[in-house]
Amino acid sequence: MNRYPASILFLTGILLSSGPLHAQYAIGGGEVEGLYQRHCAVCHGENLDNGLGGSLLTTERWTNAIDEEYTDIIRHGLPDLGMQAFGDILSEEEIRALVIYIREEWLLAQKKETRRKAAPRGGVFRSEKHDFRVETIWERGGVLWSIEFMEPEKALVTHFDGQLFILDTASGEAEEIAGLPEVWRRGQGGLMEAKPHPDYRRNGWIYLAYNAASRERGGSTVGMTKIVRGRIEEGRWTDQETVYEAPANTHLGTGRHFGTRIVFHDGFLFFAIGDRGRKAMAQELDRPNGKIHRIWPDGRVPKDNPFANEEEALGSIWSYGHRNPQGMVLHPATGGLWATEHGPRGGDELNLIRRGANYGWPEVTYGMNYNGTPITAHTRKPGMVDPVVHWTPSLAVCGMDVVTGDAFPGWRGDLLVTGLAAQELRRLALEDAKVVREEVLIKERGRVRDIACAPDGTLYILSMTTGNKVGRVQRLRPAG
Ligand code: HEC
Repeated sequence: MNRYPASILFLTGILLSSGPLHAQYAIGGGEVEGLYQRHCAVCHGENLDNGLGGSLLTTERWTNAIDEEYTDIIRHGLPDLGMQAFGDILSEEEIRALVIYIREEWLLAQKKETRRKAAPRGGVFRSEKHDFRVETIWERGGVLWSIEFMEPEKALVTHFDGQLFILDTASGEAEEIAGLPEVWRRGQGGLMEAKPHPDYRRNGWIYLAYNAASRERGGSTVGMTKIVRGRIEEGRWTDQETVYEAPANTHLGTGRHFGTRIVFHDGFLFFAIGDRGRKAMAQELDRPNGKIHRIWPDGRVPKDNPFANEEEALGSIWSYGHRNPQGMVLHPATGGLWATEHGPRGGDELNLIRRGANYGWPEVTYGMNYNGTPITAHTRKPGMVDPVVHWTPSLAVCGMDVVTGDAFPGWRGDLLVTGLAAQELRRLALEDAKVVREEVLIKERGRVRDIACAPDGTLYILSMTTGNKVGRVQRLRPAG
């Protein structure tokens, strides 16, 4: 796998930033590379960029139409031009994996340019609509997971290991809250979201979503994403009530894909649970994993939920077929509920969440397995909702927020999306339910896990230092 300098750089970046937290994809490698070298390299070159068949990396912009066109060409060949059909030799899944692979390699080739554009000059990051500076205001060893504002200059910040802080964003000082519930720190599970109730000033409720261990089964601990609410009094967590706990027989021991973010909307509380690494369960309505749920903020299940009256189904389910949604936000102008979904290798998604809808995982996906083996040949099927946007290679997409306030008027109403493996902050301009423009604002300055827009419109991101040892809160401020 030492073909491009660019891919070496990129791989090194991924290896440096890998940890037990996230499944990492060795982009460009795995079984699919062997498949390519065996069947295609003779005409398109070892590096996909030369030979009798020509370079496969010259496309200017990659769209779904290209996925389809390439699938077709590989399946049926281009007999007039001298490429044979592979439809009899390769399975549909293998052909799909090859298309994803070509797309990955294409993006690696594009990356240099993106990096050059996003690099700051004299400390100033330049972008299409705003130039800005990034300043670190607070640091803490380990992983910071979520940031949410409770007051204009006070933000709740969670530490993955189970600590909650109130950060004063003006002074850069943080107070740790004592007496939090016990968190089961395992793999990708820990303390995730902390979110104030929309009426927090009146009722004082703060919601926590975390991985909770529940009981021993066959000698091993199991657990599931759990939600509690409580109040903070004089630096202590008090008045705790359980808001959501999945049925005990659905708890699992895996350390993968817990979700989650919390969104309040229309008087309800929405949250996600990832598939927990058990793909097929995302389609099973008697399982809480692989779903987005809707409950009342006190934990009751709304009677008008889509599956509330189905005997076998869990009444709290709002949508299903999700892999691992780690970003969710309500768009204040449209009322749309947006969720990002961490894909496998390729196939990260941005979805608009609708009542009762099936988002397809794992029956359809734009990605393949981390080791380069295919998951499915299908990217879409009737009755399954297509993502609004999908990203291949994966950004390892995570938290997001909508820009409001006055600090960045040119970005108002846009979605800002974070990426872990891609180490990105990305701006998505929306028109209704469509993304009409994507721009990388920050690139390769540490893994970015969450973003919050403060009431005054200033932006705060959670990122990691290189080497992934220290979590930081950083502020984006308009330059000049
Ligand atoms: C015997 C030589 C040969 C082999 C083997 C071969 N190709 Fe091709 N391929 C070609 C030729 C020739 C073209 C047409 C180039 C042109 O447009 O002039 C082509 C075109 C393509 C295109 C369309 C490119 C574009 O930009 O429109 C794709 C995609 C492609 N090949 C993929 C593959 C894959 C994947 C494999 C392996 C499974 C493969 N090819 C194996 C010769 C080959």
